[in-house]
Amino acid sequence: MNPSSSALRNAILWLLLLSTVTSFVMSESEERQTYIIHMDHSQKPASFPTHETWHRATVDSLSPSLSDGEDKFLYSYNHVAHGFSARLTPSELAKIEKSPAHQATIKESFGKLFTTHSSKFLGLKHSSGLWPTSSYGEGVIIGILDTGIWPESAYFCDKGMPPVPPRWKGECENGTAFSPSNCNRKLIGARSFSKGLAAAGLNISKMYDYDSARDFAGHGTHTSSTAAGAPVIGVSHFGYASGTARGIVPRAHVAMYKVLWASDTYESASSDVLAGMDQAIADGVDIMSLSLGILLTPYFNDVIAIASLSAIEKGIVVVCAAGNDGAYNSTYNGAPWIITVGAGTIDRSFVATSTLGNGLTIEGTSYFPQSVDIADAQVYYGKDNPDKAKCLLSALDPKEIAGKVVLCDNNNTVDLDSQVQELDNKGAYGAILLSDELNLYPEDYSIPVVVIPTSSGAPIKDYLTRENNATVSMRFLQTKLGTTPAPLVADFSSRGPDPINPSILKPDILAPGVDILAAVVTNMPFMEVGLYDLVTNYALYSGTSMAAPHIAGVAALLKAMHKDWSPAAIKSAMMTTAYTMDNTGTTLKDQRWRHAATPLDFGAGQINPNKAMDPGLIYDLNLQDFIEFLCSLGYTDKQMSAVIRRGQWNCGRSNGDLNYPSFIAVYSNKTGSTKVKSFNRVVTNVGDDSSVYQAIVASPKEMTVIVQPSNLTFTHKYEKQSFHLTIEVDKLATGVTYGYLKWVDQHNHVVSSPIVAISY
Ligand SMILES: *[C@@H]1O[C@H](CO)[C@@H](O)[C@H](O)[C@H]1NC(C)=O
Ligand SMILES: *[C@@H]1O[C@H](CO)[C@@H](O)[C@H](O)[C@H]1NC(C)=O
Ligand SMILES: *[C@@H]1O[C@H](CO)[C@@H](O)[C@H](O)[C@H]1NC(C)=O
Ligand SMILES: *[C@@H]1O[C@H](CO)[C@@H](O)[C@H](O)[C@H]1NC(C)=O
Ligand SMILES: *[C@@H]1O[C@H](CO)[C@@H](O)[C@H](O)[C@H]1NC(C)=O
Ligand SMILES: *[C@@H]1O[C@H](CO)[C@@H](O)[C@H](O)[C@H]1NC(C)=O
Ligand SMILES: *[C@@H]1O[C@H](CO)[C@@H](O)[C@H](O)[C@H]1NC(C)=O
Repeated sequence: MNPSSSALRNAILWLLLLSTVTSFVMSESEERQTYIIHMDHSQKPASFPTHETWHRATVDSLSPSLSDGEDKFLYSYNHVAHGFSARLTPSELAKIEKSPAHQATIKESFGKLFTTHSSKFLGLKHSSGLWPTSSYGEGVIIGILDTGIWPESAYFCDKGMPPVPPRWKGECENGTAFSPSNCNRKLIGARSFSKGLAAAGLNISKMYDYDSARDFAGHGTHTSSTAAGAPVIGVSHFGYASGTARGIVPRAHVAMYKVLWASDTYESASSDVLAGMDQAIADGVDIMSLSLGILLTPYFNDVIAIASLSAIEKGIVVVCAAGNDGAYNSTYNGAPWIITVGAGTIDRSFVATSTLGNGLTIEGTSYFPQSVDIADAQVYYGKDNPDKAKCLLSALDPKEIAGKVVLCDNNNTVDLDSQVQELDNKGAYGAILLSDELNLYPEDYSIPVVVIPTSSGAPIKDYLTRENNATVSMRFLQTKLGTTPAPLVADFSSRGPDPINPSILKPDILAPGVDILAAVVTNMPFMEVGLYDLVTNYALYSGTSMAAPHIAGVAALLKAMHKDWSPAAIKSAMMTTAYTMDNTGTTLKDQRWRHAATPLDFGAGQINPNKAMDPGLIYDLNLQDFIEFLCSLGYTDKQMSAVIRRGQWNCGRSNGDLNYPSFIAVYSNKTGSTKVKSFNRVVTNVGDDSSVYQAIVASPKEMTVIVQPSNLTFTHKYEKQSFHLTIEVDKLATGVTYGYLKWVDQHNHVVSSPIVAISY
């Protein structure tokens, strides 16, 4: 498999290294490991001019410099955290931890990435709505933390872009295959962070990756162009999905912070991610987008959660991918100040048609990259041998299948990628795979293959069983729009409840993340077909990695339009206007099983950008609200100060009931436990001066929802009103029960929140 497919596979599978990796052994007897140390900045002795000099001196005082001349000091952090990272022995760490200025220690951990038409599917139009109203996001700066960027892509052309905002403090760093001249008015910053990985033993200059902000794997180029790519004419994936493409915010500036490195062992170190986020804040980004995840840990050990809270405090919106585990209770990046994004499909499909010798025509999915037309080819079906019928690996005889189109009745048991490779190796001309599995990706189509759902398989098998001299004609390279139902919740999208804090509904929202066409790198082939390596400027990728930059883009448009909105207000606007119906008018379904999905799958629903610009009411939150929320989690003082970077704070009402735009109650089914939960919320009027909202509750019979008061009257903009909501769920209810609260006014605003109860 070529490196690009393995990078994409990582994006889709998103393996996590769950164990902490020890750094290489030093000449001393004790092993060094990387730690992130939180310090109380108020304790800095006046003799040190800066925090960094103090941090360095603290590390230098521990032991003589290392024999190999390596620096054991990695980064000083000033925005996302107060403290530093360094390679320390256990005894050095113990010394630092005794210092009165020490607040907390986090061990280095390692993470992975989650890996033309989507802006149109989201309803963005040139004639009206969020695009023209926000001037296409003019002047907003989006910081992307990812695998780097391919600056030559036409998506990063700066023709017609406004000048770089004077407030921008970022830089384009020089490095391998990257120089400051690669930046322009579209790509305004590019930096890379690898000290943490280097400390863990990864020598970047020995790897195939570039030691600079240049993208090796394609993931960061894809996410950046999805969020803020300039319009490009004539974009396609080998002829599929062709047309004019652009990012969600065509007039925003982009800054790349490379924190993910192409490697077989490590992808990303938490100390590097923290350094990238620290720099992004210092540089002046407005939005941060992260399509990666590290570990599922409480917030005080989670560098993305900690750094995001600092960003939020400075008014920066942080958007993160929810993860690609597909299972319930598997969302990543679920801190309540982060916008956590799940992935959905769009209404576009890539099809091939197969016409059998008896005239029957059946449509299936194919990404085969050449416009071959196969006419009356012979078909092989191992109907007398179950292993051959399923095309089990090594059951096939090359003599029987060479030059033929092979039917594989997989019955969902086989890894389709290995099967296609096996068919290719054994000389098959093409294949029809009967399968409902969704694990064959565009770069796996090395021979003409079509995947047909098992439910459509019976007439094909019937024909092949009766006909000894069966033939098929096949036509590839067809793109269909208007596919129904769409969107569907992608099978790989991580589902709630949030494993770290089930009392906040996650994911927050859904955005397109399946077969998204955007820019990639051209340093290596995307795939192989026969003897040919195929290179492309644009490719289809899937993952919650692809969904997050859509939301980052919409957040940038909203920010351009409403400069005074807080990150929580922007998130609320997107969540309360999201939709939960697909294009057939029924509740969003699950891609794999096609049953009705719930808010644990799609959060508040699919992003609806044009509605989000005028939400009517918002559920706002500020830092003090998050502090009161953290106080309710029972953290120690040191843990608290690590998250909020303060020595002192006010727990107020120590309130776990955040003013969140969704509601969730989790009940255990201990006999006799009452299933009642109450919430308090405050909404702010951001719509018309005078409006009267009425509460409309939709809930199933097992769930009773009471809202008081049921009418809210506003007489001026920015006025706040509070209400109280109580859920009572039937004692016998099991699993997920959900409904909605909708505040509806006379001006057509509908402010919708999911209400979810889970009974175990
Ligand atoms: C930029 O980086 C390249 C590659 O590392 C190096 O050869 C070149 O000298 C650097 N240029 C400057 C101005 O530092
Ligand atoms: C990394 O590899 C390069 C090239 O082989 C070598 O020059 C350099 O010294 C290595 N650095 C470390 C820290 O091992
Ligand atoms: C297909 O799989 C299903 C479920 O795993 C099983 O019940 C059925 O017998 C299988 N059919 C064949 C033909 O193997
Ligand atoms: C099978 O079909 C092919 C193509 O139509 C034809 O050339 C061949 O003679 C047929 N063989 C038999 C045994 O009917
Ligand atoms: C959810 O996941 C967390 C962390 O993996 C685990 O501790 C918890 O028990 C899980 N909850 C449920 C309901 O499965
Ligand atoms: C709430 O408003 C609706 C519509 O304006 C009105 O019909 C209803 O009587 C009001 N209810 C209360 C309790 O004021
Ligand atoms: C919930 O109750 C049912 C029936 O009483 C029982 O079978 C099940 O194990 C319980 N589940 C939990 C998580 O306690």
